[in-house]
Amino acid sequence: MPQLVPLTPDDAPADAADAPVAPPHAHLWPDTARVDTTGRLLLDGIPASDLLGAYGSPLYVYDEATLRGQMRAFREAFAQRWAASAVAYAGKAYLSPALCALLLDEGLELDAVSAGEVGLATRAGYPAQRIHLHGNFKPAAELASALNTADGGVGRVVVDSLDELDQLAALGEARGRPVALWLRVNPDVPTETHVSIQTGHADTKFGLDLASGAAVEAARRAAASPWLTLLGLHAHAGSNLFDTAPLAQVTQTLATFAATLRETLGVIVSEISPGGGVGVAYTPEQRALAPSDYAEAITGALRAACERLRLAPPRLIVEPGRALVARAGVALYTVGPRKVTPHTVFVAVDGGMGDNPRPALYDARYHAALADRMTEPPSETARVVGRYCESGDVLVCAAALPQAQRGETLAIPVSGAYHLPMASQYNLVPRPAVIFTNDGRARLVRRRETLDDLTQLDVWDDLPSAPSTRPTRLDQR
Ligand SMILES: Cc1ncc(COP(=O)(O)O)c(C=O)c1O
Repeated sequence: MPQLVPLTPDDAPADAADAPVAPPHAHLWPDTARVDTTGRLLLDGIPASDLLGAYGSPLYVYDEATLRGQMRAFREAFAQRWAASAVAYAGKAYLSPALCALLLDEGLELDAVSAGEVGLATRAGYPAQRIHLHGNFKPAAELASALNTADGGVGRVVVDSLDELDQLAALGEARGRPVALWLRVNPDVPTETHVSIQTGHADTKFGLDLASGAAVEAARRAAASPWLTLLGLHAHAGSNLFDTAPLAQVTQTLATFAATLRETLGVIVSEISPGGGVGVAYTPEQRALAPSDYAEAITGALRAACERLRLAPPRLIVEPGRALVARAGVALYTVGPRKVTPHTVFVAVDGGMGDNPRPALYDARYHAALADRMTEPPSETARVVGRYCESGDVLVCAAALPQAQRGETLAIPVSGAYHLPMASQYNLVPRPAVIFTNDGRARLVRRRETLDDLTQLDVWDDLPSAPSTRPTRLDQR
């Protein structure tokens, strides 16, 4: 792949008036995004359309400076307010070997939810001890493999049911070493977010119920087993939250439950994790929840609860996912047909619900821009649709754009979280390539899927009608 290098200081324009400027709605774009004097979007100094030309379309571009900046902002916000604190990135938002290297470098822990996520991270050199394994149902084989990685197993298992607790005790005994765990409790805290990403209300499938006594029973069993070490309590209220009140309430609930366990069972928990859920801005009028406001709400609630309940300050671990990666990622597409009906202007692009199912799943809203006409005023409101065979395949329902032309690059910012991990091969369309940019250079971190990738898992032999139906290589046709 070509190394794309932007203007160097030597050939950079001498006149400051020619210097690239921040893009419109800069708060939606990566920190290094700029617009040059001809109106082109630059990502880390490189024209977005050049990236598409070099790596193909559609393309996901992550800006390393923004990733690191977000990781540091959250770490520092908590370190300044709570001495024993850690930020664990929720890998479900987006995970890759390249990202694991950054997490390690920036001192973040990792929340994983499957043997797949644990396996990817450990293969990338991320220590299993720094991983917390979540999930409401961790299949037995996955639990066993996560506890028995080559480097000694994951650091914490976040127990979601009594059934799982019993399995863990058996696995601890089998490996001859206790399992360190947190209990995930259902805090019964409602949140204002899409119903599919509310996770801490009374009727959620997640966690051990406080009201029915399941959570206390789990603590009792954990304390009684020599193969289990109860270290902490966890809850996660929901995702993409802008109001800090539920986050503070969850923190208080966990602290109160810690005090109950001390009083009823004599059990002391030393770690508290009120999950993640920090909201990000997807559209121009939205504003992200600032790391400092988030940290202030949680540490304030924990401090107050510890004083009131006379609890020793626990270690505090937060788990933002989306807020660390969303704005660092930009999705680039190539514009195809533009269709004008009496009702709607449709602009079709070469991606869609296959690489970004969020609009279809959560009615998610996005902003869009033509990457080579960033400063041109919009002339119409268009519905940006994908190439997939569903009417629900809409990326942006009302995008204010200049009239888009076939072949142009369309950029959608805030595309770094919950796109690629949720991407599918629907309609047998290959999933996009991913690049990271850093210091004006781009590097491929995931190659584009090929047509052969799409069919390689199917069994082609032994079809009744044809003795030899194995296809020739589709990509070479
Ligand atoms: C247990 C847990 N922690 C953290 C997160 C991360 O949430 P977000 O990406 O909204 O910060 C999730 C998301 O579902 C979660 O289930």
